[in-house]
Amino acid sequence: MKVLGISFGRKNKNCDILVKQALFAAQEAGAEVKFINTMNMKISHCTGCGACSKLRDQGKQIKCVAIKDDYLELENEILNADGIIVGAPVYSIAPTGQLKNYIDRFGAAHDRAAALAEQDKRIKAGAEELLDPRVLADKYVAYISVGGAKTPDWVSMGLPNMHMFGMSTVMKTVGQIDAYNMGTAVSPILEDELMEQTAKLGKHLAESIGKPYDQVEWLGEEGVCPVCHNSIITIGKTTEVLCPLCGIHGNLSIEDGEVKVTFSEKEQNRARNTLEGLTEHYHEIQGFI
Ligand SMILES: Cc1cc2nc3c(=O)[nH]c(=O)nc-3n(C[C@H](O)[C@H](O)[C@H](O)COP(=O)(O)O)c2cc1C
Repeated sequence: MKVLGISFGRKNKNCDILVKQALFAAQEAGAEVKFINTMNMKISHCTGCGACSKLRDQGKQIKCVAIKDDYLELENEILNADGIIVGAPVYSIAPTGQLKNYIDRFGAAHDRAAALAEQDKRIKAGAEELLDPRVLADKYVAYISVGGAKTPDWVSMGLPNMHMFGMSTVMKTVGQIDAYNMGTAVSPILEDELMEQTAKLGKHLAESIGKPYDQVEWLGEEGVCPVCHNSIITIGKTTEVLCPLCGIHGNLSIEDGEVKVTFSEKEQNRARNTLEGLTEHYHEIQGFI
């Protein structure tokens, strides 16, 4: 069982400390662990060149090879891992751009619904090159968002955006931590409760690996959306609401002065981080030129 910790923060600073704390706990729970700090890695942004789709059409591996930088090294480590702990600093209320650069180049090229359809086609055609089986393997992920602000108000898009990391490959998110207030706390090491919570997350990740997704328990705040456990909800003029992260519709009501948001089982099952949700999108974009 391999657990990879990735920090998008400064070397030896807050994200590094928290990711390593989770890794130590995963190691104690029996995982083989590895740590990567990406701060000095060159991960350029996706240029939309379509090279990954061309490789697909030529029957080769679908991956971003057009830009020669450190992306492929990180991708390889992620594909080798069974579980991943991602720690990212909040810059301008969302995770640092380096993480988004990685997600854009990884996600579309490794979309699980598209990969399954492609693999099926290749098997039926007796193709020479099948897709890397690591792209189709189940993986488990935990997120740690780190912010300097005293209140959660300035880290609001941190954790929700981090979820895009495992979305397209249908990784199972086992839990998350919103470590804001680092400006006042000075270092996570001085925050016993946070360090304890982070160790719990690392242990929980290691213990979740290999379980059927529907048997994995969530570790963290429940949130409003029962699928992603975040609390960003889009509200229009009716009582229908949307979880913009999962892409699922729910209903808002006020009962005894309390706001209630509910999502049907059917909607929950078509969330973007499920194979059903991704397959729906795969068919939706088939007609695109
Ligand atoms: C460009 C920049 C923008 C930032 N924006 C925010 C922000 O919007 N909200 C917040 O809480 N912290 C913000 N911070 C503070 C960082 O999230 C904080 O210092 C964090 O600990 C950095 O992670 P690291 O210590 O692992 O490098 C920002 C820092 C930088 C450098």
